[in-house]
Amino acid sequence: PARGPLAGAHLLVTAGPTHEPIDPVRYLANRSSGQQGFAIAGALAALGGRVTLVAGPVALPTPAGVTRIDVETAREMAAAVDAALPADAAVMVAAVADWRVETAAQKIKKGDAAPAPTLALVENPDILATLSRSPRRPRLVVGFAAETERVIEHATAKQRRKGCDWIVANDVSGDVMGGDANAVDLVTADGVEHWPRAPKGAVAERLAHRIADALKD
Ligand code: C5P
Repeated sequence: PARGPLAGAHLLVTAGPTHEPIDPVRYLANRSSGQQGFAIAGALAALGGRVTLVAGPVALPTPAGVTRIDVETAREMAAAVDAALPADAAVMVAAVADWRVETAAQKIKKGDAAPAPTLALVENPDILATLSRSPRRPRLVVGFAAETERVIEHATAKQRRKGCDWIVANDVSGDVMGGDANAVDLVTADGVEHWPRAPKGAVAERLAHRIADALKD
């Protein structure tokens, strides 16, 4: 049996980008590397937790002791999160695409539209907001907010809008996406804590310990 402060707890983590197909050979995506989410999943497992990691398309090894479910699209991620419940805590780190494309069944050819095709976008489900308001809501729901300005103000508004307990806010105006360090602000009901720039692994460990503390009471 697992040992550590999270022994007996089930933790659900999402990470990476999602890929939204345009046609059978093309997709829309974003620059998320999945590093921070994978590090969090590994840190939670290292504290003895049973961890389910729902991962979008990334080129990363599965952290030790983590059960990984690979998905491509936002809708697949939403279904995998739902199927993984119940959980004691959820940490939604994935950079989920806000929109998917009304896809074409066949490859769009250059001659199909003159002068060029237009992509019609459809809004994707908000996995974090749905989970926060679900009857099967985990006791602790943590969201991430990547902002480029007025980080704390936007993060606080996002916490209310999504209905989650904590928001980990990071300023992505620099080299955070794909980089190996992160400076974050942790927004909780008790206020805002600034965590200075540190390797993503150190941010993950600190957050994992905070989650273990929160699940204790
Ligand atoms: O609204 P925004 O994308 O900035 O919110 C970020 C937070 O919401 C992250 O925790 C992200 O994983 C989550 N999210 C989600 N489903 C979406 C969009 C965002 O779970 N469709």
